[in-house]
Amino acid sequence: MYQAPRGTTDILPEDQPYWRYVESTFQQTARSFGYRRIDTPIFEDTGLFQRTVGEETDIVQKEMYSFVDRGEQSLTLRPEGTAAVCRAYLEKGMQNLPQPVRLSYVASMFRYDRPQAGRYRQFNQYGIEAIGDADAAVDLEVIQLALGVVEALGLGKTTMVLNNIGDVEDRPRYLAALQAYYELHTDKLCTACRHRYHANPLRLLDCKQQSCQPFLADAPRSTDYLGGGAKTHWEELLGYLNDLGIPHRLDHRLVRGLDYYTRTVFEIIPEKDGSQSAICAGGRYDGLIKQLGGKSTAGIGFAAGIERIILNLQAQRVEVPMEESGPLVVAFRGAQAKMEAVRLVRNLRTQGNAVVLAPERSLKAQMRYASSLDAPRVFILGDAEMAQGAVTVREMASGTQQQLPLADFTPGG
Ligand code: HAM
Repeated sequence: MYQAPRGTTDILPEDQPYWRYVESTFQQTARSFGYRRIDTPIFEDTGLFQRTVGEETDIVQKEMYSFVDRGEQSLTLRPEGTAAVCRAYLEKGMQNLPQPVRLSYVASMFRYDRPQAGRYRQFNQYGIEAIGDADAAVDLEVIQLALGVVEALGLGKTTMVLNNIGDVEDRPRYLAALQAYYELHTDKLCTACRHRYHANPLRLLDCKQQSCQPFLADAPRSTDYLGGGAKTHWEELLGYLNDLGIPHRLDHRLVRGLDYYTRTVFEIIPEKDGSQSAICAGGRYDGLIKQLGGKSTAGIGFAAGIERIILNLQAQRVEVPMEESGPLVVAFRGAQAKMEAVRLVRNLRTQGNAVVLAPERSLKAQMRYASSLDAPRVFILGDAEMAQGAVTVREMASGTQQQLPLADFTPGG
């Protein structure tokens, strides 16, 4: 027996109401903020992710599903959405549109991650990108949209964690300070952090190992190393958040696992028994478009893990709108009735109904089948009905039945 590959899930019919609820809530909120949907290919040039997400990140080093196709091209199943949306922005000339361009997506992502609850190898994100405006008011908008979806979904209390990791130009001074601080502790760091110390010092702040925790509190803070532009931008954003009373927690250890971020970074974390896994995360990436060969262009966005959101909705027993009732069912007995049943199914569908022809079994078994589909009404064609050119219509909830002329259901009848 084959099984679904490790880290993947089947989204069964009974799971669909949650998916519809999350996607439609997101789409509605995104539209109300002026975002328009974009869909990009499932795979892209491997180089796109290497360049933007970063050679030294876990995603590029360990988690990409890359393959060489028959044309000898190295392709990768997208591990995230931002790089692809920025590629499309440039390739499709969106830099020539009035800026900023607001784009939204709902898409599957692929990462060779260690599967566990809320962590999968194929997972789905909803996300947005606002490209072409560096104004702090856009940071505010993106944060409001991220929080707006979470609120509209009815998710319980969450915390928004916020930091500013500065511009690319501010980075060397800050990284030097970070390395100088950690230099005193290198012998006590975990193996991964000893590597990070050289390869990607920013990620030292992100270490979850117990042995590295004591060094985090006193580590230099990126917000103390912001250049003039980033500092004004940061203060303006904090001003908006405070003025509008948007709760947030500043955390100098929030650095994110993708290299393209600049300035604002944030995550939304559900507030339940110490859970640390973000349901939504994002930030600014003012250097990314230029890195892809475009002119210097600001950008900011977020993505949310739909599986994680659904796990939280289910844990909190949030009611989601269930499926409307099942289809109408047409039951029959005998060859002549079957011919009539096939016609009736077609006619009812033409009138805009969802209709299913019952499988050819005893009438009793057909009624059971109709119940299993949650059919509101069953149309029965037996010998008596055939003789009278009629159909018996049974209301499943009440059990009441009435005979109606078949002609009532023929087009023009
Ligand atoms: P990310 O933090 O890698 O950011 O992913 C965003 C969200 O996707 C996470 O907070 C989490 O909810 C979900 N997620 C990530 N990995 C997994 C996984 N293996 N299984 C289930 N859910 C997962 C990005 O992807 C950026 N592109 C976000 C962004 C958009 N930044 C700017 N614009």
